[in-house]
Amino acid sequence: MTPLLQDQVAIITGAGRGIGAAAAELFAAHGARVVVSDRDSGPTEEVVAAIKQAGGTAIGVPGDVTDPEFPNQLFEQAHAAFGDINILVNNAGYTWDGMLHKMSDKQWEAMLAVHNTAPFRLVRAAAPYMRDAAREEQAAGKAPAPRCIINVSSTSGLHGNIGQLNYATAKMGMVGFTKTVAKEWGAFGIRCNAVAFGYIETRLTQAKESGETIAVEGEEIPLGVPGHMHDMVKMMIPLGRTGTVEEAAGGILLLASPFAGYINGHTLEVTGGMGI
Ligand SMILES: NC(=O)c1ccc[n+]([C@@H]2O[C@H](COP(=O)([O-])OP(=O)(O)OC[C@H]3O[C@@H](n4cnc5c(N)ncnc54)[C@H](O)[C@@H]3O)[C@@H](O)[C@H]2O)c1
Repeated sequence: MTPLLQDQVAIITGAGRGIGAAAAELFAAHGARVVVSDRDSGPTEEVVAAIKQAGGTAIGVPGDVTDPEFPNQLFEQAHAAFGDINILVNNAGYTWDGMLHKMSDKQWEAMLAVHNTAPFRLVRAAAPYMRDAAREEQAAGKAPAPRCIINVSSTSGLHGNIGQLNYATAKMGMVGFTKTVAKEWGAFGIRCNAVAFGYIETRLTQAKESGETIAVEGEEIPLGVPGHMHDMVKMMIPLGRTGTVEEAAGGILLLASPFAGYINGHTLEVTGGMGI
């Protein structure tokens, strides 16, 4: 059987750990040449090494997606290494929780910056490599290459979540973003879909008491959810358990694969049934 993404080139942001890393490894196992990108260079290189060790092809392009210069640089380096680009996965992100009456402007803006503005700049940076490439193929009467964009959303966006006004707003924003890209670029055969995750075991969902943080503009922002909620949440999931990063990556691969060739503008809930 031909691998699902044979010879396709995929850029995945936030691929140094968690869901993005699992997606990078899964895409490579299905034949893609993967551009692993993350703000943390050490984890980026570890994922590249793991892919190569397993016989796959990958390069690392570390960088911060909120840096206005980075999206263009990422596409330039990806194109220089691998040529045409087929897939962009907008996955990089984090949470900066707080109740709305105490939420600072900085806290609010940071979530829009990483979850909305960065994907916007990345898709805009993709235009010459994806949209224009498709136009040229169309003008030459060639069959279009497979191309798609996948945005990572969340059940916090679809349903709201206490303490996450900033994150929920940004993640719901990705749903409208996805539908608009699907409508603008569908004419070029470029699909755009979103995956809304529920509760996947990563450092974003581990017990807050374990003390994981992310440094943003000199601040150490605590990651995770309060320990008591971590245990309670399973009761809200019809499958009765949280999801693994491999299961999350499976949802992304499904939308990137030829089996989703006629799926466009959709938000796929990968949640074990949470929120239905
Ligand atoms: N874990 C869940 O249950 C869950 C649920 C819904 C949505 N999500 C979303 O899934 C995505 C992946 O999260 P995860 O759970 O794997 O978390 P994670 O912390 O394990 O991985 C996220 C990665 O994104 C990177 N990143 C963060 N900000 C960045 C930036 N500005 N530039 C470049 N890289 C950056 C981090 O360094 C990290 O390696 C995020 O968008 C998150 O909001 C996760």
